[in-house]
Amino acid sequence: MTNTSLSQVIVALDFPSEKEALHFLDKVEGKLTYVKVGMQLYYSQGPELIEKIKAKDLKIFLDLKLHDIPATVAKASQVLAKLKIDMVNVHAAGGFEMMKKANQAYKEIHPEGKMIAVTQLTSTSQEVLNQEIGISGKLSDNVLHYAKMAKEAGLDGVVCSAWEAEFIKEKMGETFLCVTPGIRLNLENAHDQKRVKTPAQAIKAGADFLVMGREITKASNPKEIVNSIEKDLI
Ligand code: C5P
Repeated sequence: MTNTSLSQVIVALDFPSEKEALHFLDKVEGKLTYVKVGMQLYYSQGPELIEKIKAKDLKIFLDLKLHDIPATVAKASQVLAKLKIDMVNVHAAGGFEMMKKANQAYKEIHPEGKMIAVTQLTSTSQEVLNQEIGISGKLSDNVLHYAKMAKEAGLDGVVCSAWEAEFIKEKMGETFLCVTPGIRLNLENAHDQKRVKTPAQAIKAGADFLVMGREITKASNPKEIVNSIEKDLI
């Protein structure tokens, strides 16, 4: 994607409560276009918060990473489709049938919505993949395998590390979305993320959307950080 801008930055609202999330949104008012609601916030506040965020004219990526038997994930996807938000996700590790059924169920109700698949979490290293998760081989091969499966199942793209975005774009085509967490202005401050890039590096590598959390949400002046990200993306 060219003409990069803040509209490609999805800010992860990883807050424990609606009050804190809305307070943060007030602090950065007018700067953001896309936010991510994850498990912590959704499980504590539910769909009412989604409506409040929608009322602020913000796009929403609901990051619940569904992973269960195909029928259960398809039914959950129908429920999420009724929220009429912009993007939801499932774990590719749930397999082809799970992704296909989830995507069909979701798009029947909300055809404009995007469904993407998590490949490997950006906190997963090569060592964790092999020794803890029990998948042998190279991490990048596994990410590519999951991305191919997601595409065949009809999904719109994947969540992946910016380190994988380049070869995913190359193999899957330009229109297959790469949504990349593990983004840091300051690469020294990676927290638990193992595979990080700066906003500009991630876009250069082919990312369509950058998911950014703690570096913005934990900042004493989040607007200042958002401005720095905007500058980095020019
Ligand atoms: O704070 P940080 O910028 O690391 O936040 C990244 C966000 O992206 C978190 O909400 C995390 O749950 C999410 N995420 C991730 N890796 C994935 C999928 C989602 O870090 N593969």
